[in-house]
Amino acid sequence: MMIVTMIAAVPCGNANQNNEQPLGGDNDSTVTVGISKVYFTKDINSEGLVKIYEALGRPASGRVAVKISTGEPGGHNFLQPELIKDLVHNVNGTIVECNTAYGGKRSTTEEHLQTAKDHGFTAIANVDIMDAEGDMRIPVKDSTHIKYDIVGSHLKNYDFMINLAHFKGHAMGGFGGVLKNQSIGVASANGKAYIHTAGKAQSPDELWENLPEQDYFLESMSAAAQAVADYFGDNILYINVMNNLSVDCDCDSHPHDPEMKDIGILASTDPVALDQACLDLVFNYTPSEDDDNASLLERINSRHGTHTVDYAEEIGLGSRQYQLINIEDNSIMNKNDNEMQHTASRLVAYFSATGTTKAVAQTLAKATDADIYEIRPEKLYTTADLDWQDNNSRSSVENANENSRPALADKNANIQNYDVIFLGFPIWWYRAPKIINTFLESYDFSGKTIILFATSGGSQLGETAKYLKGSCSKTTVIKDGKILSRNASEEELQKWVKSIGY
Ligand SMILES: Cc1cc2nc3c(=O)[nH]c(=O)nc-3n(C[C@H](O)[C@H](O)[C@H](O)COP(=O)(O)O)c2cc1C
Repeated sequence: MMIVTMIAAVPCGNANQNNEQPLGGDNDSTVTVGISKVYFTKDINSEGLVKIYEALGRPASGRVAVKISTGEPGGHNFLQPELIKDLVHNVNGTIVECNTAYGGKRSTTEEHLQTAKDHGFTAIANVDIMDAEGDMRIPVKDSTHIKYDIVGSHLKNYDFMINLAHFKGHAMGGFGGVLKNQSIGVASANGKAYIHTAGKAQSPDELWENLPEQDYFLESMSAAAQAVADYFGDNILYINVMNNLSVDCDCDSHPHDPEMKDIGILASTDPVALDQACLDLVFNYTPSEDDDNASLLERINSRHGTHTVDYAEEIGLGSRQYQLINIEDNSIMNKNDNEMQHTASRLVAYFSATGTTKAVAQTLAKATDADIYEIRPEKLYTTADLDWQDNNSRSSVENANENSRPALADKNANIQNYDVIFLGFPIWWYRAPKIINTFLESYDFSGKTIILFATSGGSQLGETAKYLKGSCSKTTVIKDGKILSRNASEEELQKWVKSIGY
């Protein structure tokens, strides 16, 4: 498994200008243009929170809104008043929220304020439910799905926003961090319905029967987050607290208990870099007994959660390239000075009988900086075995038998180390050879994303994925990829992989 530094691998062609500058705070002019700074402290306490805010070098001024989630009654993972109190006082902030779009105890202003009181927030600061008096529209740059962002009308009463999010899983988005806190969180109840339906409905009453394709919802969140970022310009900053890392959100009244330990607090002036950094810390976490990232990974992957960040970068909200800086000593964190590592999480696994798929798999692995693994049959296929015109040849016999599972030479693919697996093979009789079923049934692919690619004499992938699904768990995402040419260049393959969001 390859180990790289904490810098995400995807180039930042379209980060907004704001994020392309070295960020303030430490006068470090050596930071490469296009790489955002994300600050880190392992101290999850009020002092750590104030310190990381100060490290950003962007003092909050004017009327300051501190956007948190007040938490649904019954849940207990939300950011506690004791944790945030000093920061809120320091910036003379008002805690802001918007009403929810589902039933529960925060869907009306009265109940929401009561919840905020019960959870101890009104004791530390004024709490403003920003859509108490209705909502207003602010423009979106990306109008693919939503044509504007519908936010609480009180947003206009603030000059500066501190987006203070609790990073954790989420039932619909896969995960929630600053991008979600700023899109769904700042949207009024109507605005939440508008984002959740990707522009199809503007009332909570019509939300559930208008749910869109998952990616459209995620893309709408990115667009709405960008609208709020644009609204505040340079007067906004972002903090994610990585504690109580449940698979469920604070909007859930019965969230699952966290299965992994707290990580720390991260902050940035780039929301995309910040959420990406937090995702990387979850994806590259080293599990141990009673401290396991598996269920959170499954939650994120099964909802295609990373697409929110990918799309946010695509529309220019920020950069997924970042440096992670430990505020203790201003050091750049990498494998040499910190236990947390960003490991390559992509694998190209392939079967090739006559070398065509092998050639393209090797180029794909280079193009995606992925590890590579050859799926080898215990017994190699001879030319006679591959004779598709002979009904009695080995390949013909295997193909005709749905239960055929040709044995593997080894089981060393180490699938547990990877999140995304590019799975390649030659097309045999319009689908994958049966050894691919053997491969899928030999490992646990739960929560993983598999992207198919193949070579062929002319056939497309057709129903290939359908015949492979039964060999994986329900939480495995199998995506149709592409028939690739043996001679595809690294550049072409990079372009393809980026076009499908990886
Ligand atoms: C048994 C067998 C069945 C095949 N069936 C198809 C097919 O249905 N459609 C097609 O376009 N090519 C088919 N081919 C051609 C292969 O998909 C193609 O030559 C492929 O690139 C070989 O990849 P490899 O060199 O990695 O084994 C078949 C080849 C064999 C040996």
